[in-house]
Parts: sequence; C-alpha cells; structure tokens
Amino acid sequence: MSHTTLSRFLIEQQRKQGSIPPELRFLIETIARTCKAISHSVHKGALSGVLGEAGTGNVQGEAQKKLDVIANDVLLEANEWGGSLAAMASEEMELPHAIPGEYPKGEYLLLFDPLDGSSNIDVNISVGTIFSVLRCPEGVTQPTEADFLQPGTTQVAAGYTVYGPQTMLVLTFGNGVHGFTLDRENGSFVLTHPDMRVPEATKEFAINMSNMRHWEAPVQRYVDELLAGTTGPRGKDFNMRWVASMVAEVHRIIIRGGIFMYPKDARDPSKAGKLRLMYEGNPMAFIIEQAGGVATNGHQRILDIQPAKLHERVAVFLGSKEEVELVTRYHAE
Ligand code: AHG
Ligand code: MN
Ligand code: MN
Ligand code: MN
Repeated sequence: MSHTTLSRFLIEQQRKQGSIPPELRFLIETIARTCKAISHSVHKGALSGVLGEAGTGNVQGEAQKKLDVIANDVLLEANEWGGSLAAMASEEMELPHAIPGEYPKGEYLLLFDPLDGSSNIDVNISVGTIFSVLRCPEGVTQPTEADFLQPGTTQVAAGYTVYGPQTMLVLTFGNGVHGFTLDRENGSFVLTHPDMRVPEATKEFAINMSNMRHWEAPVQRYVDELLAGTTGPRGKDFNMRWVASMVAEVHRIIIRGGIFMYPKDARDPSKAGKLRLMYEGNPMAFIIEQAGGVATNGHQRILDIQPAKLHERVAVFLGSKEEVELVTRYHAE
C-alpha cells in the first residue's frame, strides 16, 4: 500500500485550484516538523530532563512547565526564518513576537498554544500543540496586537498535534479535516484519517464536574439531565470523560463523538471562561465545524466572536451537533 505523506497531501492540495498557496504549505510543513521535535521531547520525558516546573509564570497567571517553555521556544525559532510569517502570538507570551529584521516577512500570522494540557506532562498523559493561521492585514509590516484580533471565521488554517500513544496531526484549511499519524520509524506524518467527521449524536460528555457549584443555570440544567439517565428527560444513560487536555478531548470527540464543555465560572465574573479564544477556542472550533460538529460559547458560534484582546477567554461548548445545539438552546431560554 502506498502511503500519502503530509508533504504529498500538501502538494496535492496546493495543485488544486483555489487551494493552499506555496507559502502556506511551507508554513504547515514547518509547524509539522516542529511538532515532531516537540513529540520527541515529550516522549523522552524524564530521560532528557524535560519534566517538571520551569519556575516561571505566564501572562495567563499559570506556572509554566519546562515543556511549555521548550515547546514555545522551538515553535518561535523554527517559524522565524521561513518567510511566510509577519508575526506570531502564543499563550505563553504577553505580546506578539515580531519576525527578526534579518528575515523576510510573509503574509500570515501564526498563533499557538505550544503545549496544551501541560498539567498532564509529569503524569504521562496526552498533551498537544494547537495552532491557528490568520492572514496579516494588507499593508501591515509591523503587526501589533490589533492585527491579530480577527474573528475565527477568518482563519486560513488550524490544527493540533496530540502527543499520545500515537502522535497525530489533525489539520484543516477550511475544506474538511484530515488526520496524520507520525510514523516514528521514518519520521513522516502519514494520512491515516482522511475526512474526519464528528458523529452527530453521542452518549458521552466531558466537563470538569468539580466546578459544578460555580456553573450558570443552563449548564447546571443540561448536565443534571445527562446525569438523570434513562429515567430522566433524555431517556438514555451518558458516560463521562475528563482528561484535562483539550487536545485529547477534541481528538476523542472527532473520532467517536461527544460534547466538551468549559463553561464560564461564577467565581470570576470578569472572565468569560478558562480557555483562550485565540489559541484554543478558535482553532478547535474551526476544526470541529469542518468535521461537521458545532462550537459555541453558549450564545453564539465561537468563530463569529470579534476578539477584543489577544489573551481573551471564552466559554466553550463543542462537539456532536445534537448536544451542543441543545445546551446552546438552554442558554437562550
Ligand atoms: P494549558 O495546559 O494549555 O494551559 O490548557 C489547559 C486547559 C485545557 O487543555 C483543559 O481542557 C483545561 O485547561 C483543564 O482545566 P482544569 O484543570 O480546570 O480541568
Ligand atoms: Mn497554560
Ligand atoms: Mn491549552
Ligand atoms: Mn498551553
């Protein structure tokens, strides 16, 4: 059987009319190569001394793990010189990262969550990298924060890599979602999951139940009904999963269905939720929608939100259509 590698897939996409330009292809290849390097570090774990705390904090108010910092640095370094980017932004950096003067500048902006689920690194549970690609506004040569503040509908590409039992890259350019498995023997990503589709119905949900007392009424109602099982209004039993790595939850949902929720939290009314719109909400919403699922903040499509700041938070409800539509309807009632 002849395999379609990521490189071949991208070249073929590029050849299709109206599809990806060479600069975007190069950018995705570079991100994929970087994710291979991160995958290598993650899988070496304690053998290469990358586990544990970095001893620093980030703009999100989180203690950084060594691998948060390593993954961020590797992504910055690999994507600086290629000529396809005008600037980058990351969950781990307060301000956008300019492309150094010695390199040519390109027409795209790259945003990433270098290591998602980093509380899981030290306990050997799946983590990932999430990325989003935007076009740099025309005529802008020194992008500032304002140039990144585009709604998710404008994304030209998004993807994630999950570093689990297998390392997989899942990618969209806005015409479907395709999954590639890293073949560690020859170092290439191979198309193993073409045209991934989120099942419309599900009996599985994911939410951090320990926050239950802080949820808003519609979320409370929705989850109560799931828990009521066969004798409740839903008339069926639901199962629950919570990995605490969004990448792993989204991957599970694309493969076998489910709903993932990180609602807003009454403890801090100024915050819309925990997850970050630009590094987590938008890229995952783009992927989920492209796979036939739905992604809202309880009130509207995540992709329609006009961001007001780079590190904006967002409530997230995503996954199987039937469930996300129901919990979104409860918010409107
Ligand atoms: P990150 O590691 O990039 O900061 O993101 C962690 C996120 C997300 O991956 C996960 O769904 C959620 O935080 C878990 O939050 P709790 O620890 O509150 O369950
Ligand atoms: Mn973090
Ligand atoms: Mn994250
Ligand atoms: Mn992270």
